[in-house]
Amino acid sequence: MDYTILVNKYNKISKEEMNNIEKVSVKDIFNEDILIEKETLFYFNKLKEFLNKKGIEIGIDSAYRSIEDQEEIIKKYREERGEEYVKKYVAPINTSEHHTGLAIDFLIKSEGKFLTEIEDIWNNLDIYLEIHKYISNFGFILRYPKGREKTTGYSYEPWHIRYVGKKTATYIMNSHITLEEYYFKKHSGILLINKEKDMTSRDVVNIISKKLHLKKVGHTGTLDPLATGLLVITIGNATKIGELLTSLDKEYEAEFVLGVLTDTLDITGKVLKEKKTSSKIDIESALKHFTTTYNQEVPIYSAVKVHGKKLYQYARENKTIKLPKKEVTIKKLELLDYHKGLYKIKCLVSKGTYIRSLIRDIGEYLNTYATMTNLKRTSQSNFLLKDSFTINDIKTSNFKIIPIKDCLNIKKISIKDDLLFKVRNGVVLTDLDYDDEQILFLDEEGFEVALYRKEDNKYKPWKVFI
Ligand code: DAL
Ligand code: ZN
Repeated sequence: MDYTILVNKYNKISKEEMNNIEKVSVKDIFNEDILIEKETLFYFNKLKEFLNKKGIEIGIDSAYRSIEDQEEIIKKYREERGEEYVKKYVAPINTSEHHTGLAIDFLIKSEGKFLTEIEDIWNNLDIYLEIHKYISNFGFILRYPKGREKTTGYSYEPWHIRYVGKKTATYIMNSHITLEEYYFKKHSGILLINKEKDMTSRDVVNIISKKLHLKKVGHTGTLDPLATGLLVITIGNATKIGELLTSLDKEYEAEFVLGVLTDTLDITGKVLKEKKTSSKIDIESALKHFTTTYNQEVPIYSAVKVHGKKLYQYARENKTIKLPKKEVTIKKLELLDYHKGLYKIKCLVSKGTYIRSLIRDIGEYLNTYATMTNLKRTSQSNFLLKDSFTINDIKTSNFKIIPIKDCLNIKKISIKDDLLFKVRNGVVLTDLDYDDEQILFLDEEGFEVALYRKEDNKYKPWKVFI
């Protein structure tokens, strides 16, 4: 059971998820039987006992709510308090975390009577504030804190607590963050995707963004619709380290034919030139020749900008433009297969290499033309295609995000108290005695705080994470 499940206006809970949570029966303050998640009740009772010893009595007003319960509540408050109140304090059906059974609305008892009116709560706020000091020790957070309406979507609710487990609750309450922010940190990282043909890299980003309800999603190297294979996706805080991942070497398997040249340099383009190829093709010598560093001409059908305009826009407008060249290194280049005029190669290349350009160049070297017919990215540095997830895995929630700390091969230091405060605020550190060029600082929960770089014997903030 994931006690940190996020249910809010954007993250609806499904019927299946609701049914999968084990609930038990308990009496509410009106002596009615209601349901609540099992562990939530256990720790609520512990909290209640603890508060009793302090002379504070609390009881449950509401815990698990079915869809119908929430519907009734919305109706009741709409009639009694009006639409404005409902907007501020009551969740639309399917979006209430009461559907999980992990949320509790509690009330306090005074002179033998539970104070059930909302005005009673505001008049006794000091008692609620006293209770809030202890809830994290029992695994609860204050779910809708004061001043955080924009993040949580609801007004301050001193009566609504949410069980997340002691460690997480302590972290959330001590860092003064909301469950939404915790969710963002928890889902920050790298996701390896096996892109299908005909899908754009942007399509993949959009699917993941929609699935996780996170706007901050990116990728670290486009794969054209024709191409398949490994697409390294960055999520949340990991979008800030995209440039570190983009610069890594990539390995591809590519297929091409000789004797044809197209405008896009791949088989999806318009045929520009054709030539009958000679029977004496020394492919091995061409591959050997290009296992080197050379200045490669950028394809016209690319998003590289010249004079502030993307190259493919010049192509679409039929304008001629001098194509820029970029230094690339082909580290490995080998023939995997040759079958009926189709060459299959494997190549390990540096950042910014266009495989279709490499193939065009191979063709030219062989005194003919060449066009790429297929491309599959098999790795990007240590990220391997075999460890990636399909779009179907994403849709069926069968995937794992690699935390930022596990994908950067740099020094990591866990910090707390004073140093944590400084690093969170991007203070330059002058008294750290390390040799490392870069340090990734982590908080007690293992979440990234900031990435620092050494400069003039000082550690300076390079990326400060949310
Ligand atoms: N009062 C909270 C927002 C709910 O209705 O779930
Ligand atoms: Zn509530």
